[in-house]
Amino acid sequence: MTHLPVPPPSARFLRACRRLPTDRTPVWFMRQAGRYMPEYRALREKYSLLDLCRDPHLAAQVTLQPVHALGVDAAILFADILLPLIPMGARLTFSAGEGPVIDNPVRSARDIRSLRPVTAEEDLGYVLRAVRLARGELPESVPLIGFAGAPFTLASYLVEGGSSRTFRRTKQLMYAEPRAWHSLMEKLSGVLIDYLSAQVTAGAQAIQLFDSWVGALSLDDYQTYVASHSAAVLAAVARSGVPAIHFGTGTSGLLEAMRDAGGDVIGVDWRIPLDRAWERLGPSVAIQGNLDPVALFAPRPELERQVRLVLQAANGRPGHIFNLGHGVLPETPVESVKAVVEMVHEISVREAA
Ligand code: CP3
Repeated sequence: MTHLPVPPPSARFLRACRRLPTDRTPVWFMRQAGRYMPEYRALREKYSLLDLCRDPHLAAQVTLQPVHALGVDAAILFADILLPLIPMGARLTFSAGEGPVIDNPVRSARDIRSLRPVTAEEDLGYVLRAVRLARGELPESVPLIGFAGAPFTLASYLVEGGSSRTFRRTKQLMYAEPRAWHSLMEKLSGVLIDYLSAQVTAGAQAIQLFDSWVGALSLDDYQTYVASHSAAVLAAVARSGVPAIHFGTGTSGLLEAMRDAGGDVIGVDWRIPLDRAWERLGPSVAIQGNLDPVALFAPRPELERQVRLVLQAANGRPGHIFNLGHGVLPETPVESVKAVVEMVHEISVREAA
């Protein structure tokens, strides 16, 4: 059992990760830096997404944009979960309408064998420099969250060659060639363990593991093909000494299994009421979520009603981090995002910490 330093009262987000009382409920948003922000769109007129990620100064600048514009309680590093796949050998592009495309998908044991081993210092140094720069520029009270995609979600992009609705090829590989599948998951986990430890060394104060598409799996598939690999990554984050947020969407069928795989905080989406999710998860973890991103398009009174519902479900219990159930959508009105930060801080104010 390691003894971790207790974060000061000002560090709302880090205290909530440890289930310590806070003066207000901390709030941040997945995809808080992105196309809904005019400052971000202005940079995107000059640079591609990959250019922004690969220039540490630009990436640090984008990381700070929502902190200044919204007053959120945490910053998330500007990068993408797919970046580590590039040095592994994936030819990745982001196209305007289609999202990410990998034009040499991984489909066989042979393809898996030819994936390159990657070390963060050598192959992803630009991300680590962005972490150092962003941490250096952020105010003390705003912790920096590092992140990576979880092995399953990354494997799904490698195997499908892009986004998918059914994950047919991914599941086919799993079922037909379990040994090859597990070796792919082990390769990914190895890369992720090194990459996330390097982010922590560079200054990341918490880590979010994005298993965005894991809700596509049955409980049995999750336990048979995925859980042990996520667990290896989350155990390494725990050893690095910072809290881990274990996030997925559509995970009502997997909540206990995801908790058992690891993470100090479990991220849930809006498809399950937050109180029901927390009851099932039990007292050993904190919870993050879970406003529907589309609620940000609602008229203000309806938006406020939904924000209140999430806060009421958490009932002031230490260990709630307010967030959306998934990322901010590109067309979202900035004013609504700002209003949610204010609502959460005003509604949740309490004597504590
Ligand atoms: O503000 C932040 O949250 C930090 C930056 C961040 C990005 N991607 C930048 C980005 C983070 C945390 C991610 C994670 C990510 N990337 C996930 C997991 C979270 C989730 O949404 O489930 C996934 C699945 C990806 C892969 C990915 N990247 C897709 C599917 C797309 C295309 C869809 C889209 O929204 O355009 C991207 C592109 C991407 N990554 C953008 C941003 C800001 C938009 C691209 C642009 O500016 O053109």
